[in-house]
Amino acid sequence: MNTIRINASKSYDVLVQNGCFKDAGRFIKNIFPEGKIAIVTDDTVQSLYADELVENLKSCGFDDVFVFSFPHGEKSKNYQTLIDITEFLAEKNLTRTDLLIALGGGVVGDITGFAAAIYLRGIKFVQIPTTFLAAIDSSVGGKTAVNLNAGKNLIGSFYQPELVICDPKMIDTLDDVYFDDGVAEAIKYGAIMDSKLFELFEKSDMRQNLEKIIVRCIELKNIVVTEDEFDVGLRQLLNFGHTIGHSIEKCSNFKITHGHAVAIGMAIIARGCVKLGITPENDAKRLISLIEKYNLPTKCEFDTESLYAPAVSDKKRTGGDITVIVMEKVGGCVLHKIPVEGLKELIENGR
Ligand code: GLY
Repeated sequence: MNTIRINASKSYDVLVQNGCFKDAGRFIKNIFPEGKIAIVTDDTVQSLYADELVENLKSCGFDDVFVFSFPHGEKSKNYQTLIDITEFLAEKNLTRTDLLIALGGGVVGDITGFAAAIYLRGIKFVQIPTTFLAAIDSSVGGKTAVNLNAGKNLIGSFYQPELVICDPKMIDTLDDVYFDDGVAEAIKYGAIMDSKLFELFEKSDMRQNLEKIIVRCIELKNIVVTEDEFDVGLRQLLNFGHTIGHSIEKCSNFKITHGHAVAIGMAIIARGCVKLGITPENDAKRLISLIEKYNLPTKCEFDTESLYAPAVSDKKRTGGDITVIVMEKVGGCVLHKIPVEGLKELIENGR
């Protein structure tokens, strides 16, 4: 078993191993010996994995296991779904000593984590990510949120899980479009802080080394979260391509999924930063070629003004400035504070 110990304000393990989902009940029993469990999931994941998890938990002695499911997709990541989850928990009389499980991708993990943070002012939760993106990014590090009309993840909290159980086999069976969302996040890790990982992606196919790649990405995330759990410095590196990516998701009415939008966002920033003399042309070319190698987009149809408007309400804005993440070289990104209007120029130069 690969075990990565996350050292945030709360320490917890991330377990990564092919086939480990079948032992989820046993792992949960180790950290939560008894009590009620509510599994929160979406309709797609429910049909694939919820029954197996319920049976597994029951075989480990958990008699009261409930399942709450909502329609899959980013559109469900709102306060109405959040309220529906918490009403369900109250209806089932879950108390502070009970447990939530987030079984699904990033939307399920983020909204379940937020429900766990606010229900009875805090209840324990476990993450079981079923997408590549959730495995390497959103299930680890304690960011929880839902979207507002004004933008993505604008209400939420930092709330760490008790345990993360990641079975790469579940991820390997994903359709390409969902797998590719995670590919963009994996490329991001290489671009921001690990040139060797970036080279591995250039030389081989990600699906061939999935378990190893997931472990490495989580190790990298651990470094960042240990240093800056509350996202005031180093952790912002993880947002490379995300400010513009979030705008793209919003402009497309969420038809362009998160990873695809982040891929375009990274490419726009890289091209824009070449013009500013921050990113060497060859490094930008390598990034864009790698994104293309994995059939992800590097451009979108939206004009500068449409991409800029949602970006200015981004969380990384402070007063009249916004922090953008720029690549000085492959494997070396830095935070770069610019006046908010400078972002418009960057987008214009990079699209
Ligand atoms: N997804 C970015 C972070 O966890 O900070």
